Amino acid sequence: MTTFIRNAWYVAAWSGEVARTLFKRRILDQPVVLYRKEDGTPVALIDRCAHKLLPLSMGQLVGDNVQCGYHGLEFDCSGKCVRVPGQAMVPPKAAVRSFPVVERYNAIWIWMGDAALADPQKIHRILRYDEPGWSVIDGRYQRHLADYLNIAENLQDPAHTTFAHRSTIGNPAASEVPVKVEQDGEHVVSWRWTNDAPPPPIDRKIGGFSGMTDRCQFYNYFAPCVARVDVVTMEAGQEHTEENMDRGLRAYSYKFLTPETATTTHFFWLHVRNFGAGDTALEAALIAGLDQTFDEDNAICSALQREQEATGVRQYAFLAIDAGPSRVRRLLEQMAAAEAGTDHQPKETA
Ligand code: FES
Ligand SMILES: [Fe+2]
Repeated sequence: MTTFIRNAWYVAAWSGEVARTLFKRRILDQPVVLYRKEDGTPVALIDRCAHKLLPLSMGQLVGDNVQCGYHGLEFDCSGKCVRVPGQAMVPPKAAVRSFPVVERYNAIWIWMGDAALADPQKIHRILRYDEPGWSVIDGRYQRHLADYLNIAENLQDPAHTTFAHRSTIGNPAASEVPVKVEQDGEHVVSWRWTNDAPPPPIDRKIGGFSGMTDRCQFYNYFAPCVARVDVVTMEAGQEHTEENMDRGLRAYSYKFLTPETATTTHFFWLHVRNFGAGDTALEAALIAGLDQTFDEDNAICSALQREQEATGVRQYAFLAIDAGPSRVRRLLEQMAAAEAGTDHQPKETA
């Protein structure tokens, strides 16, 4: 059984990736072609012609329609075939599936499930986005060679940072501090405060801390596909109020996981912060540091993915540190099973 959850908004692409050309991307193991209409509105269709299944992305745009590159069938942005070269009648079955899409936060969000349930209000709300004093890095993309469940577990697993990210966010003091885990519906959070400890190298560089710091990390997972790590680094010895935390280095590190196949994942990341506005050198360093951190995660997750596939085993020993990761996996598996048991399964047309 697949553990995909279809009735949810996923990031299909960053806004800048989709233009007046045919852009293909596999999402939840379905081929999708994305493009923009002449007025700029994004469109997503299944990337498979209703005639002989040629990927429509091999064709071309004709106005707001897609023309198949094999025999020239034309589909409008609802997926309806509007022209068959050489015959006047368009067969009623000649239609391709179209997917609801919404452009928000500089990204194109897609709904792969039952279109009747696609409510744009359910798109995840990004904290502090476009608020004065806060800067956003977006448009970052990596392709991870692992099942999104392994990646979701990793994003709920603070215990790995000390060992897997020695040169970036790793902090030897952090591995000793217990992590608390809570779940509220489709939200799981693991968090900890590491008080009166030396800051990790990246924070020392950016925040210029000379002494000890208090550092908190909240690892949030919003099933099925959004992870947000909230990080605060502040001078040690202050009360942990919202105002004091806002005076420290504060950031929200978002990852949007969009399963590509059962074993590969599109990893979009976005970062919101309250420091270094307009500092292009700092921003470049931040991008390089985060890209490196997520490359390190990809190296770990894709390597264990290969071993899981070779052995058919997901995990041998279970440890106390697995509480958060296991909670997220169980939640995702339960949601996928619940969806599989409903009527809200999308029907394939083409
Ligand atoms: S395969 Fe698309 S028109 Fe024939
Ligand atoms: Fe990591």
